[in-house]
Amino acid sequence: MAGTLDLFEHQPEPPQPLAEGAWLLRGFVLDDAEQLLTDLQQVAARAPFRHQVTPGGYSMSAAMTSCGDLGWVTDRHGYRYSPTDPLDDQPWPALPESFKQLAARAAERAGYPGFAPQSCLINRYETGARMALHQDKDEQDLFAPIVSVSLGAPISFMFGGPTRSHQPVRWKIEHGDVLVWGGPSRLFFHGVAPLGKRADHPLTGSVRYNLTFRKVR
Ligand code: SIN
Ligand code: FE2
Repeated sequence: MAGTLDLFEHQPEPPQPLAEGAWLLRGFVLDDAEQLLTDLQQVAARAPFRHQVTPGGYSMSAAMTSCGDLGWVTDRHGYRYSPTDPLDDQPWPALPESFKQLAARAAERAGYPGFAPQSCLINRYETGARMALHQDKDEQDLFAPIVSVSLGAPISFMFGGPTRSHQPVRWKIEHGDVLVWGGPSRLFFHGVAPLGKRADHPLTGSVRYNLTFRKVR
């Protein structure tokens, strides 16, 4: 029965529900992770990671860049989507084919067929970097889901509810995991706890990357 174990190892885990319309797809991109990381580095070579400033004047601890038709930017004037990178006023790098395919596949697996994102925000977390609880609400299209892909070091993801007062549940999210939330949970609060000192992954060392795909308009 030597082959039986192999078979089991490659069985994808069933999607795990986090809330109505929200799913955790454990290990969904494990087979594509190296390609995604290579493509990510190519995006970053053209549109480098930077620490953006919030309208309140705080520098964000996660470094960010974007690809696709639109990129998410923040500065003293507010949060918005921009067709160009404010660092050089050039269009953002195109969405790599690997990104597009994976985003559509993950959305479909979570019950959202036909997902065609216009934007991918790439976050880079180093030790101690975090993302406070927030809603993704700068998009005009609140029908399409958010697809969130984790690569590299593990982190504690907080998934809350429709208001800030909902106590968020913490999920340990690892390399290759994908979260998809839409429909009734599209505007649910979420964030990540500070990346731990000992967090580590063979492909990225102490760094965690997160790709969030959005349909903006
Ligand atoms: C985000 O909500 O923009 C990022 C969340 C994450 O890094 O997992
Ligand atoms: Fe978010």
